Amino acid sequence: TGLITLDPGYKNTGATKSAITFLDGEEGILRYRGYRIEDLAEKSTFLEVAYLLIYGELPTQSEYETFNIEITHHTLVHEDIKKILEGFPSNAHPMGVLSSLICSLTAFYPDSLNPNRSKEEIDLSIIRLLAKMPTFAAWAYKNEMGHPVNYPDNNLDYCGNFLKMMFALPAEKYEVDPIVSAALDKLLILHADHEQNCSTSTVRIVGSSQASIYASISAGINALWGPLHGGANQSVIEMLEAIKADGGDAKKYLDKAKDKNDSFRLMGFGHRVYKNFDPRAKIIKKAADDVLGKLGVKDPILEIAKELEYAALHDQYFIDRKLYPNVDFYSGIIYRALGIPTDMFTVMFALGRLPGWIAQWKEMRENNEPIGRPRQVYVGENERDYVSMNKR
Ligand code: CMC
Repeated sequence: TGLITLDPGYKNTGATKSAITFLDGEEGILRYRGYRIEDLAEKSTFLEVAYLLIYGELPTQSEYETFNIEITHHTLVHEDIKKILEGFPSNAHPMGVLSSLICSLTAFYPDSLNPNRSKEEIDLSIIRLLAKMPTFAAWAYKNEMGHPVNYPDNNLDYCGNFLKMMFALPAEKYEVDPIVSAALDKLLILHADHEQNCSTSTVRIVGSSQASIYASISAGINALWGPLHGGANQSVIEMLEAIKADGGDAKKYLDKAKDKNDSFRLMGFGHRVYKNFDPRAKIIKKAADDVLGKLGVKDPILEIAKELEYAALHDQYFIDRKLYPNVDFYSGIIYRALGIPTDMFTVMFALGRLPGWIAQWKEMRENNEPIGRPRQVYVGENERDYVSMNKR
């Protein structure tokens, strides 16, 4: 069988060649298809970036319009999906609801189970995913609130439509705030891809068995849910709230994070690949100041976050281990200012990451990659004889 190299957590194992995202963790560089994340966050829109990730080039004006129109015309979901939604208790975490509803698309579009679909059929699935995910995400929230769901409004752009489905109430007039919508668009761009992270690798590995694209993306959502991955943005706010409730002593929590007998970690700090500033965190920190300023929101938690960041960046433990704030450290603060509830933060991350998952799934299938199947080193019992129940 040859020698098996053990690499728990795949810290040094490359699983694929990829032409989508370039990441240099030592230098803190991130590029999608060669374009700097800083430029895309500043100049592009989320749907432009989605097109870039999935199809490899920035869209021309007409390609962009077609893409936009197609997505807009698939935002509606089958009415029976509402029945699935209604079966969830109101305290269901929206990530579980989201992954279930995405997986249910395998039943509404069973052609997706066929591994030999044409390029056009796959493109239609891609459009459906991008179009319906905001509807599901907003509906998961509505179910939690006990509010009636809102149907998509095709007169609005991608983020505007999502915000209206999230926040409009039947008895009140709702206008999309352009500041909120622009901030959301930027956050989605920053989350759109991050090469072979846990959820993306999950999407690729599930897809490598030739499972449906919907089933693969649903699995990615579940992988993202964990607190060490996308769930960190929720954990960061919970941590900052706890520090505030405990008198606002950031130093005390820094010591807790350093204590090896304490399982507490500084959430939103550290990264498997970045051993320098996460470039996304830099952009988000600036955006947090910007958005809170424009919206006139004063959040004491932003001050605690900045104190904590400053203290950690000057602490030998964090310096030695090259632990810097990651994308999740400030994103939750902006989400809060936009009125997004804490348990929806990871859902927002999923909305942003969707084009990346799709692009990676598509690349994996186009490259005809073999089924993902890691090996192991067996450390269990040697061969032994069966002992009947009365002799145990
Ligand atoms: N607080 C305190 N100590 C830490 C932290 C932290 N946040 N992160 C890493 N360390 C320490 C860790 O204890 C270890 O110390 P030692 O060498 O003394 O044993 C050292 O730094 C290396 O950490 P590791 O756990 O071996 O690193 P990893 O690459 O396996 O883990 C990580 C990466 C992101 C899971 C980890 O840094 C972490 O748990 N961070 C907090 C959760 C978080 O913010 N996750 C979001 C990640 S970014 C976006 C995303 O992926 O969704």
